[in-house]
Formats: sequence, C-alpha cells, structure tokens
Amino acid sequence: MRALVCRRYGEPEDLEVTELPEPEAGPGEVLVGVRAAAVNFPDVLVVADKYQVPSPLPFVPGSELSGEVLATGEGVSHLKPGDRIFGVCSTGAFAERAVLDAGQVATMPDTAGFAEAAAFGVTYRTAYHALRSVAGVRPDDWVVVLGAAGGVGLAAVDVSRELGARVVAVASDRDKLALCIRRGADAVIDYAREGLKERVRELTGGGAHVVIDPVGGAAAEQALRATRWGGTFVTIGFASGTIPKIPLNLVLLKGVTIKGLELRTFGVHRPDLESRDHGELLDLFAAGRVRPHIGATFPLADGAAALRHVADRRAHGKVVIEVR
Ligand SMILES: NC(=O)c1ccc[n+]([C@@H]2O[C@H](COP(=O)([O-])OP(=O)(O)OC[C@H]3O[C@@H](n4cnc5c(N)ncnc54)[C@H](OP(=O)(O)O)[C@@H]3O)[C@@H](O)[C@H]2O)c1
Repeated sequence: MRALVCRRYGEPEDLEVTELPEPEAGPGEVLVGVRAAAVNFPDVLVVADKYQVPSPLPFVPGSELSGEVLATGEGVSHLKPGDRIFGVCSTGAFAERAVLDAGQVATMPDTAGFAEAAAFGVTYRTAYHALRSVAGVRPDDWVVVLGAAGGVGLAAVDVSRELGARVVAVASDRDKLALCIRRGADAVIDYAREGLKERVRELTGGGAHVVIDPVGGAAAEQALRATRWGGTFVTIGFASGTIPKIPLNLVLLKGVTIKGLELRTFGVHRPDLESRDHGELLDLFAAGRVRPHIGATFPLADGAAALRHVADRRAHGKVVIEVR
C-alpha cells in the first residue's frame, strides 16, 4: 500500500510517499481502507520531533481518518467489513490502509461525507471536552476563542454556539474572521491589528466568562486580562510556538481559574466525562448540528503540501488528505 512516511525528523517536505507492506488487524483491532485523513497541527510537531510524545522512526503520521472496514481482529463484534467508519489513532492515518483500536472507531452517520467524518474526531472532541467538561460553559456565557479559524478554534466556535453561548472569535486576518462569522461567531477581533483586552471587554460588556486558547504566546496574557472576575481560561495548545508565562497576580486579582485540557490524557483521568461528552458529541454530529469546515483538500501524493499548509498558518478550519 502507499503511505506518507517519515524516515527522518524535520519539515513536511522530508516526508516520502512510498510503498509499505499491507498491515493486518490484531486482536481488538480493525483494518480500515482509508478514504480521507485530516491534518492536525500536532502532526507537524510529531514530524519535527517536537511533540510531547515522540514517534520512533520510521512511522506514518496522521491521527484521524474515515473509511471502510476491510477486516476485524479477534474479539471485535460491533463492526463488520463494509461499515463506513471514522476514528482516531496515534499515528498511521496518512496511508491507503490503517489499523485502529476498535474502541476508537465509530460508525459514520449517513448525513456525513468522508472528509467531514475524518476531520471530526480530534478537534471536536478537544473543543467539546474543553467547553462542556473543563470550562462548564453555560447558555449566554461569553466565550472568547483564540485562533478561531483554525481546526480546534472553529470547532470551539461551532460547539460554543451549540451550547447556547455567545462567541467572540479572534483571528489574524479578514478572511479568517469572515469565516468565523459565517460559522456562527457573534463578534470578531483581529488580534494582529486590534487591542485584544480592550476589544473583548467592550464587546462582552465586562469581560469573557471563558477563554479557549490553542495559540499561547503574547495573546494568552491579553486574553486572560480580558476575562471577567471569576472567569475560566482553558489552555489547549501553543500554535504560536511560545508557551506563555502568566503573572500570578492576575489570577489573584481576577479570581480567574486556569485549566488545561489534553485529549490524550483526559479520558484516562475522567473516563466518565469522556464517555458522556463523546455520546453527546456523536449525537450532535449525527443530527448535523455541528460540522467541521473543510478549508482545503490534497491527494495523498501531495500529503507534504497538506502539512505545509497547516504549518504556515494558512488553514481555514480543517485540511484533509483524500486518499481514495
Ligand atoms: N490539548 C489537546 O488535546 C490538543 C488537541 C489538538 C490540538 N492541540 C493544539 O492546539 C493547537 C491548534 O491546533 P489546530 O490543529 O487547531 O491548528 P491549526 O488549525 O493550524 O490552527 C492554529 C491556529 O493558531 C494560530 N496561530 C498563531 N500563531 C501561529 C503560528 N506561528 N503558526 C501556526 N498557527 C498560529 C492561527 O490562527 P491566526 O492566524 O488567526 O492567529 C491558526 O489558525 C496546536 O498547538 C495543537 O498542538 C491540542
């Protein structure tokens, strides 16, 4: 089978499209004929060997996909060949075939296409846990989303709207802000040109109840300063490349709660909340109430260009590699 392979850590352009042996499903696993796989910012970090969890060389990057079940391993009874499925894995999605833990796979709703299903798992689960379980967003809360036109950001806009919150989407150019408005944001701020703290306070009449931050860098402290007393700041990631250092006097003065959400470990520590959120989110997806926005698609042969698109801050919503 053809796959996008990382044989040495580095840039997206160091990836090679090459032939690999056919994988097989072991006990508790499912072999999938991949139709689409979505790119996440962490894929760029994994290929550069800058991710928290290193992937030993050589490996096939990619952590979410959709496709058809080709075979099931021993002990898997809820799936059968031909089922249209989507799911997440740690690596291996950017290939014609992939093996996934059957517990990480769900049947695709009839209403969703392969690209949307592939692009759903990582960003929507991240956004939903962050908003629903970590921040405890309530109807009419003001939620400020940084990097709001990116994968996690746009999912957070979509989910906030669905939870009945009001959303201020923060992004770096006019096209990204226009996309956020089309996707349901109530207000937007261009943080490349406007004062984030002042504009949030003006727009929300006193400050944010919740901040969702997948960006970090200088914007994080400005957003923290823009929370109202008793607000919640959820750190998701550091796409800017800079991990902010926050002065604790701000926390003291504002009575703000700073929390973190990491998809990889959330379910290990809170399997109850993970299971509840997952069920609710799949219902919303099946009903068509939340949907990822696919900003760009690339064939597997141009997989490196798909990762480059994300690395260069050009992604609008999700970038998808169409495999077949
Ligand atoms: N905690 C978790 O479990 C979890 C799960 C998934 C992702 N993440 C993390 O969340 C972050 C976002 O992931 P994503 O897949 O949504 O990425 P993405 O689609 O590329 O979006 C990232 C956004 O960050 C902003 N940004 C600011 N400075 C940037 C820079 N120097 N380079 C690239 N982007 C920059 C961009 O928005 P503007 O141009 O508008 O500033 C961009 O839209 C990443 O740090 C990722 O590792 C964490």
